[in-house]
This record gives sequence, C-alpha cells and structure tokens, in this order.
Amino acid sequence: MDDYKIPQHVAIILDGNGRWAKKRHLPRNFGHKAGADNLERVIEDAWNLGIKYLTVYAFSTENWKRSVEEVKGIMTILRDFLKKSIAKSKKNNMKVRIIGDRTRLDEDIIKSIEDLEEASKDNTGIVFCVALNYGGRDEITRAMRSIAADVKEGRLSTEDITEDLISGRLDTAGMPDPDLLIRTSGEIRISNYLPWQIAYSEFYFCDTLWPDFDKEELVKAIDYYNGRDRRFGGVK
Ligand code: FPP
Repeated sequence: MDDYKIPQHVAIILDGNGRWAKKRHLPRNFGHKAGADNLERVIEDAWNLGIKYLTVYAFSTENWKRSVEEVKGIMTILRDFLKKSIAKSKKNNMKVRIIGDRTRLDEDIIKSIEDLEEASKDNTGIVFCVALNYGGRDEITRAMRSIAADVKEGRLSTEDITEDLISGRLDTAGMPDPDLLIRTSGEIRISNYLPWQIAYSEFYFCDTLWPDFDKEELVKAIDYYNGRDRRFGGVK
C-alpha cells in the first residue's frame, strides 16, 4: 500500500530572486517580480497537491536594510500582489493571512491586508500565509510582552504559561506547525523564520533559485519529506 504523505503545512523561505536577476543582467527588482509571479503559480500547485497551509517568507524585519530603491520596488510588487490576491482568493476559495509586525508598513498596504483578510476569512481552501516585516524573535518578543502584561494585570498566573499558551500568542495562532520547511537557492540557514514553529519540521534545502522553483521542485521536496529518492527512470 502506498503511504505517500502530503505535508499539511509547508513553509518556504523564498530566496534567490536577486541572483536570478543578476544571471540575466537585470536589476534586482526584476527578480522580485519574477519571484512574486512564481509564488502565484506555486500556491496553485500546492493546493492541487493537497497542501492545506502554505506560509512564505516575503519580507523580513532585516530586509529594510536593503537599498531604498530595492525596498520601494518590493513594496510596489507587494501592492500589486495584494490587489490581485483579492480576486484570486475568491476564485480559488483561498484564505489569506499575514504574519509579522504590520505596523511598520505603509498605511495603504495595511488597509489592503485588512481588506484581503476580511474578504477571505470564511474561505475553506488553502490557507496562504505571508510573512511581512516578519522576524521570529520579534514575534516571540511581542508574544512575551502580551503574556507579561496579562500576568501583571492578574489575568494569568505564571503556571498558566504553557507551550500551548505561547503558541496561541504567536502570529500563527490557530495554525498547525509546518511539517516541511523549504529554502531555495542553496543557503542552509533559517534566518529567523518561524523559530518556535519549526521545532519538529523536516528541512529541505535546494539550489534552485526561487523564480525557477516549480511544481516538479515542490514534488521533489515532498518526496524528500517522504524519505524517497525517486530516480525518474534514471540511475544516480
Ligand atoms: C529573496 O531573494 C527575496 C526577498 C527577501 C524579498 C522579496 C520577495 C518577493 C518579491 C517574493 C514574493 C513577494 C511578495 C511581495 C508577496 P533575495 O533578494 O534574497 O535573493 P538573493 O539572495 O539572490 O540576493
């Protein structure tokens, strides 16, 4: 009997947009645009494969250190992506959720995020979660502050602080932890991405640059998760 498992929750660190552009002698933001277009395709692939939650690292708390021009370019791509996502969420029954500290984002982006979350909140298809101005340590710090405030005000006692309580205070509250974490483009690190949630996840690293990461690559990652080494008819 085939016991091939599809991971319920896949988290991806989208990396390699800059190198994809550089290889083509294009400005970095062309790579980000290609990366955002690819993300639209991969969401559909993920859903068609039976993945229920997809969480992607689109912009970290550290990404503000990039040049003003690059950050501006990414925000333009993000605006466009959020706008398109309203129609897509309706068409594909997709629920969208944004994690990270949104307070530092521009007001119109915050508004788009709120509209998108509200419009898609009752959808029952894939849960697509985007990490924006996200940092795992920042997320844990914000959660700790909210717990400390409750203890100080007497709403919680120290004994009430359990792993489940902490999980419920994170931005990902209510979502299962990722089963599989993928990072593209050859870097072997987690870069402050979901450090609490990936405690038991399987890690898959590949050399493919994010804009080139397609359904076949996603299937390879799931094969790896299943402990498989399919040779696609060849011999390794
Ligand atoms: C990773 O490649 C890309 C980012 C950190 C930022 C932007 C991500 C996107 C545009 C994809 C989806 C977007 C949105 C806005 C929903 P890199 O620049 O670190 O690549 P490099 O390591 O090759 O320089």
